[in-house]
This record gives sequence, C-alpha cells and structure tokens, in this order.
Amino acid sequence: MLLINKKKSSALGSEITPKKVYQERRRFIKQSAWLAAAGAGLVLSGCSQEGCAVSEPIDKKTDRPKQGVKEQLQAKKGKYGAAESLTPYEDVTTYNNFYEFGTGKGDPARNAHTLITDPWSVVIEGEVAKPGRYNLEDILKPHTMEERIYRLRCVEAWSMVIPWIGIPLADILKQFEPTSRARYVEFTTLYDPEQMSGQRARFGALDWPYVEALRIDEAMNPLTLMATGLYGEVLPNQNGAPFRLVVPWKYGFKSIKSIVKIRLTEQKPATTWESSAPQEYGFYANVNPEVDHPRWSQKNERRLPGTLLSPNRIETHMFNGYEEEVAHLYKGMDLSKYY
Ligand code: MTE
Repeated sequence: MLLINKKKSSALGSEITPKKVYQERRRFIKQSAWLAAAGAGLVLSGCSQEGCAVSEPIDKKTDRPKQGVKEQLQAKKGKYGAAESLTPYEDVTTYNNFYEFGTGKGDPARNAHTLITDPWSVVIEGEVAKPGRYNLEDILKPHTMEERIYRLRCVEAWSMVIPWIGIPLADILKQFEPTSRARYVEFTTLYDPEQMSGQRARFGALDWPYVEALRIDEAMNPLTLMATGLYGEVLPNQNGAPFRLVVPWKYGFKSIKSIVKIRLTEQKPATTWESSAPQEYGFYANVNPEVDHPRWSQKNERRLPGTLLSPNRIETHMFNGYEEEVAHLYKGMDLSKYY
C-alpha cells in the first residue's frame, strides 16, 4: 500500500518448483500433526483423526511422495482454479505487504520469523450464539481443507495467482451461530509489538491493530476463504500465518492477516485503511477498473513476476474476474461512490 501524508491454472506449484514444493508439503503435513493430535477432523490429504502420518510412502530415490498429496489437492481444487499460471512460490513469499513487519516488500519475509503462531487462539464475539476464545485447532477441527487458486489484486496495481489452502469463511462462521442482528464481520490482527517489529516503530505506518471487515453477505459468499496454507504448506508467517482472510474480488488490503479476533456486529465497523485515508481506500474496495485510485489508474496491473523492462502488464477485470460469483451482491449500488 502506498501511504499518503504519514510520511484460470494449467500448472500446479509442484510443476514449477517440484522438489521444494514437495518438501514443503511434507513439512506442512508434519506441522499439521498438531491439528490431528488435538483430535482434528481431516485437514489435507493424509491427515485424519488418527493422525497425519500420510498414507503414501515417500520414494527414497526422488524424495517425493509416491502418490497422494498432489492428487488429493487436485481433487479438492473443484471449480475454483484460475486459468492463469501460478505466481512462483518465491515471489508469493518474498514480495509481501504486512506492515506489522515493515513497509518494504521484502521486510515481512525478513522479519516475520519472530511471530509465534502455535499455540494460537481466536476470540469470537458479538452477534453470535457461541462467543468465546477458541484454540485455532478447535475452529478448524470440523472442516476439510481445500485448495483454491485465486488471483490476488493489490490496490497498488500488482497481482499474483496463489494456490491457497483453506476453509470457506461461511462454514467457520456457521459454527458460532450468527444471530439475525449480525450485519457485518470484523477481523483483527494480532497486536504485539514484541513479536511485530513494525508495531514498535515510533511513527507507525498505521494505527494498530490492523482491522478489516466485510458485510455479512460478502463474508458468507462461497468465494470468501480463511486460509491456513499456500502451495501445499502451512502459511509462511509473512503471508499471514496461521489464519488469514482471502477475499479474491477485493483489493488485497481487505485480506487481513494473522487474525486473533472475529466480531459480528450490527453496525459497520471502522477499518484500518478506510480510517487512515478514506478518500483513497473505501470500505468495499472491490477491484474495479472503472474507478481509479486518486493517484493512479486501476485499469491495468503488473502480474508478478515481472521486471522493470518487462513489467508484464495486463488488463484489470471487474471484481478481479469474479463478476459472475459476486456482482449480485452490489446490485443497484453506485460503485464509484461505494468504492
Ligand atoms: N494484513 C495485515 N495485518 N497487515 C497488512 O499490512 N496488508 C494487506 C493484506 N493484509 C496487510 C494485511 C495488503 S495491502 C495486501 S496486498 C495483502 O495483505 C498482501 O498479501 P500477501 O503479502 O500474502 O501477498
């Protein structure tokens, strides 16, 4: 994000960087053991209530699973694949916005190792029948993870295609039984300056903690995902571990990272970027090539990776290409006013 005054996929990740991704998948499966140990219902592939030992044997010569993980990920991919090539793992995990760890694109990858993601709990409060503080594994337990390949379009006009692992937000919210008064869902990132170096800065980039929100119908839309992994591994810290939102038809700043609180409300919550610069960043933040940012056009985007000489510019599509799935949510609204 730029500050003002304050100063559809043909290839899976495994086909791009096979060894690394396979190794990471194995790490993911290992790390997922804590879920299983807590009695978790199945996560990815080899994990079950009995454990995450993965039924498929590792081929000692190639150091790859003989079968299974990749196939099961593909099986779970369903209709949410994107037609474009994936952005390589390297770019997804080293070109980030996570101001809690610094404002440079490389800062999160450099600094986010200080974030402790296990144990992790999430407070659920407001308009729900079952409020409380829940361990993340208990929130995830009843659900099956799936892989979804989504485009991520940042308001700064760059974009990526990322294979997320996660659970639809609607399924998670239903667990806590929203009341009929719930009209919005607010999300809050961890506030802990000891773990998050960017929150220690004297002239902080933003007011902490980072807060985002959705209308309840946006939150319940089947596209809206709570991610716990990407490229078949647990989320790297710089990408918002251990639990982040992914709303693919909105500018990336809505996809809040490292969430510790979910609050359902009757009133529209105040959100971080809208509060910080309301004339530049709206509550809705739907990707819209017809509504420019006051300081730059939103008609095009740089699809990463690119270079200075070859920036890989492509056209931006309404709702980031997810018009069919979400346009009905905004019927009759003037999207130049509700940007
Ligand atoms: N969440 C928190 N807590 N802090 C942030 O600075 N940046 C947002 C969003 N979520 C941000 C955040 C922005 S501007 C973008 S574009 C996406 O995260 C980037 O996600 P990525 O780094 O995983 O690509």
